[in-house]
Amino acid sequence: MIDDVDSAVAEIRRRSSHAPAVGVVLGSGLGAFADAIEEPVEIPYGDIPGWPVATALGHAGALVLGSLAGVPIAAMKGRAHLYEGLPAPRVVFGIRVLGRLGVDTLVLTNACGAIDTSFSPGELVAISDHLNLQGTSPLVGPNEDALGPRFPDMTNAYDPTLRADARAAAARIGLELREGVYAAWLGPAFETPAEIRMLRALGADLVGMSTVPEVLAARHMGIRCLALSCVTNMAAGILPEPLDADHVLRVGGQAAGALTDLLRELVPTLTA
Ligand code: HPA
Repeated sequence: MIDDVDSAVAEIRRRSSHAPAVGVVLGSGLGAFADAIEEPVEIPYGDIPGWPVATALGHAGALVLGSLAGVPIAAMKGRAHLYEGLPAPRVVFGIRVLGRLGVDTLVLTNACGAIDTSFSPGELVAISDHLNLQGTSPLVGPNEDALGPRFPDMTNAYDPTLRADARAAAARIGLELREGVYAAWLGPAFETPAEIRMLRALGADLVGMSTVPEVLAARHMGIRCLALSCVTNMAAGILPEPLDADHVLRVGGQAAGALTDLLRELVPTLTA
């Protein structure tokens, strides 16, 4: 596995001499941030050996290397999800490539449903912790000692300093950034209302189908993580109407402006 990761790293280095310090994962409908990257080198996932080509709606599928206010970054436009049928280690292939490229700080974005009814569609929320309810982990199997330890600590998986940086950046541009616990659901079906009641009882504020495998792989490698979630809808059963994937994408697209503004304010402050 590590040889596949390093082959991808070699191909990326052949195409660009950028040495990214910060990685950004752009979720459904949230790809607009990549347009703000200076001197971009865009590499379609299909050109990178071993990189899974994203099939999810609203995911473009390319790695963009460049910089933002002098900070070298690598942005993944589109990600793989477990619900696509990929094994968990394949889902996190790109994260491991970013880590081997030298990324030590990772900002993940996603779209989510709100379980906590004090959140509203369109709002950005920093994830403070997670519940892994996807039934698997990318770390299952023989441990790759070159990447990290067998039993990585997940106490501060969502780095408190990065969360404070994100709150400060949000305040500078007049945005409130509250925090919540994110439950990772396998999907691809949205949750039932009963499942949402269960998730609420378990302590979840938000629910989505991504991010957690990536955070597990990143923490395994010692990469600091921040995850910013865009609430696209109230979770199933909270409102009288059914959930609609097109609506989720549309709201994600509408919130992309605020998220892009926040990332542009935040990322230049993130060199560890
Ligand atoms: N559930 C799961 N994933 C999601 C949701 C949701 O309600 N909204 C956006 N992604």
